[in-house]
Amino acid sequence: MLCLFIYDLEGQKLNVSTDRANMKFDQHPKINDTTYSPSDDEGIPPGSPQRPAYAEAFADIVERRFASRRSFLKRTAAVAAAAPLFSVAPSLFVSRANASPTLQTTLTFSPISPSTADELIVPEGYRSQLLIGWGESLIQGVPNLDTNDLGILLTHEGVRRQEHQFGYNCDFTAFFPFPTSSMRTSIRGLLAVNHEFTTSALMFPGWPGDKNPSRAQFVQDHPPVVGLGKAAHGVSIVEIRQSNGTWTFVKGSPFNRRVTGSTPVLITGPAAGHALLRTASDPQGRQVLGTLNNCAGGKTPWGTLLTCEENFDQYFGNYESFVARAETRGGDSMKKYAAFHRRIPLSKGLSRCAWELVDERFDADKHPTEAFRFGWVVEVDPYDPGAQPKKRTALGRFKHECATTVVAPRGNVVVYSGDDTRFEYVYKFVTDSIYDPTDRRANRDLLDSGTLYVAKFNDDGSGEWLPLVYGQNGLDKAHGFENQAEVLINARAAGDRLGATPMDRPEDIAINPTNGKIYIAFTNNTQRTGTQSTAQGRDVSADIDAANPRRQNNTGHIIEIIEAGNDPTATTFQWEIFMLCGDPKAGRLLASLDDAEVGNHDTYFAGFTDINAISPISAPDNLAFDQHGNLWIATDGKKETSLGFNNGLYAVPTQGSDRGHLRQFLSGPRGSEVCGPEFTPDFQTLFACIQHPGEGGSLRKPISDWPDRDGRAPRPSVVVVYKNGGKSKGSRHN
Ligand code: FEO
Ligand code: CA
Ligand code: CA
Repeated sequence: MLCLFIYDLEGQKLNVSTDRANMKFDQHPKINDTTYSPSDDEGIPPGSPQRPAYAEAFADIVERRFASRRSFLKRTAAVAAAAPLFSVAPSLFVSRANASPTLQTTLTFSPISPSTADELIVPEGYRSQLLIGWGESLIQGVPNLDTNDLGILLTHEGVRRQEHQFGYNCDFTAFFPFPTSSMRTSIRGLLAVNHEFTTSALMFPGWPGDKNPSRAQFVQDHPPVVGLGKAAHGVSIVEIRQSNGTWTFVKGSPFNRRVTGSTPVLITGPAAGHALLRTASDPQGRQVLGTLNNCAGGKTPWGTLLTCEENFDQYFGNYESFVARAETRGGDSMKKYAAFHRRIPLSKGLSRCAWELVDERFDADKHPTEAFRFGWVVEVDPYDPGAQPKKRTALGRFKHECATTVVAPRGNVVVYSGDDTRFEYVYKFVTDSIYDPTDRRANRDLLDSGTLYVAKFNDDGSGEWLPLVYGQNGLDKAHGFENQAEVLINARAAGDRLGATPMDRPEDIAINPTNGKIYIAFTNNTQRTGTQSTAQGRDVSADIDAANPRRQNNTGHIIEIIEAGNDPTATTFQWEIFMLCGDPKAGRLLASLDDAEVGNHDTYFAGFTDINAISPISAPDNLAFDQHGNLWIATDGKKETSLGFNNGLYAVPTQGSDRGHLRQFLSGPRGSEVCGPEFTPDFQTLFACIQHPGEGGSLRKPISDWPDRDGRAPRPSVVVVYKNGGKSKGSRHN
């Protein structure tokens, strides 16, 4: 057995066994190996007196990204102390010299032009590199996928391999620094990556199409495609390193791990064990197989991953058969299941991937409660490969886009999350207990108790966080809720009852590290027709309002929030629109939104009005901040919402005279959306996911062969971008 010495977050010496059948941290380190010599950790061998320094460094790293305003002020001294590093090595995406908000900008790159090319494009002076992509094996003894031989995906051997290979359609990306000394923390770490969904048309030779009824026959003829699909979902955790300017992932690292659509996941919190979460195979309602449609996510201050289950409904077929049965001859239980499904309806007839034909737990008619076990936030400890993932039910069940965390001044942890569907809501969760930065284990179940709130955006620019608490404000038996578990399982209906504001598809949420302001991306909504509408199982006003001012919002918008007292636990806030996305030359470029009636093609870039300097943008999705408060925005436009160009990554100052001056930094290959983005703690390296390159095409009619070229199937992949004064276009890594 090979073992790796590291230190846990309490500074105790730990040992990771490489015995994959029993991989977990334990307290009995003894064996070292040549691959993972302690000297790799740059001078902190086990038992070294530097251990406390490491522990402090790690705490600083995680808090630097997510800490509260109070913590921010506290750590200002540390940032100042690090100034010589920035002065010596200014190869950043931003210039520290211009960090003052009174100066024009801190962004230093020259924007690229929108593109339709099947290439990954970054600005002159920056280099992109493929880090890892679909089908690359994480362990020794399993080969990489050969995109010249996709027939393997129709076999059981293909499934076995995929369970150890990087999954499909990478989305959220989180860098967890290896807990070593100083700057090493930005060149070695664990990368956690979500795999949101599979694109059968670009994976399985002969796939008839996601809407073609003959996909049922295809799945019955090739049942391994169901196992393959489940194995390609979930999360990958891989160790990565930078050496001599090149990033690689460490094949065979004991930290490498796949969490898939079949991995046993614990259900924790108030809804664990509730009757709605029980199934024939899990009569206790406390453990579910798999996590699905993991879209965006978050990182906790104690260094765990939060991965969010978004469009889980698409995996469950025969919903209408179940509803018909429940309505005509169902007993009380069946009627209750139907009532609780109403706000997140499942697939009518055959589901998109048709898994229910092989794995009947995805048949909603046969197993009507299985879908209640999805739509949660899942916590995974990347540093402990043996730790079981946990679905944290206290954070509510809906189509979670993200789980963005911050530590409030009194120490409570706050988690912001959007429900990405037209006319759905924005939520936040506030823990009952406070974060303990000195004892990692004390935070282990912090997310199991707290208060979930839903947002109401008033037209006057004020806002309220409404508590989803059983027994309050009509969340009671008379209105369909028998306890707190039912409020959480049916969070959308609870939000309806409280009068939450239906939004234009809430996507990612990011918190400005320089001032605590919160930014929410609303990707698009073309259905504000001005009349009453039925959406997601309930009647809703489809009129515009101040927070959703376009009737046909093809291009999306971004809202900026300031919590009362700049305290994330506050129950009131102020909000304003930061950006109405689009092409500023397609309509009016508005200097102000005061009294403005907004046309569908009008744009607003926080008051910035140099029309020739603004990069056109559509369908904002994933967000991140750099250390100077510039907001980085990744886009996910489809046909009607893309402005005719490939999706990309953009950056915009949020303060100073350059506030609103949006510039395009990256353009993805054809058919892709760009996800992530994520920076290393030193902001020298940017990670971005290229999700579904070639979408819209098929294996027979491809529109992209990125990144392998030569007409091979495209592969969703993670790229790293950094400044080197070299090539301006993407290059393959060897
Ligand atoms: Fe999976 Fe909301 O994007
Ligand atoms: Ca997303
Ligand atoms: Ca997306």
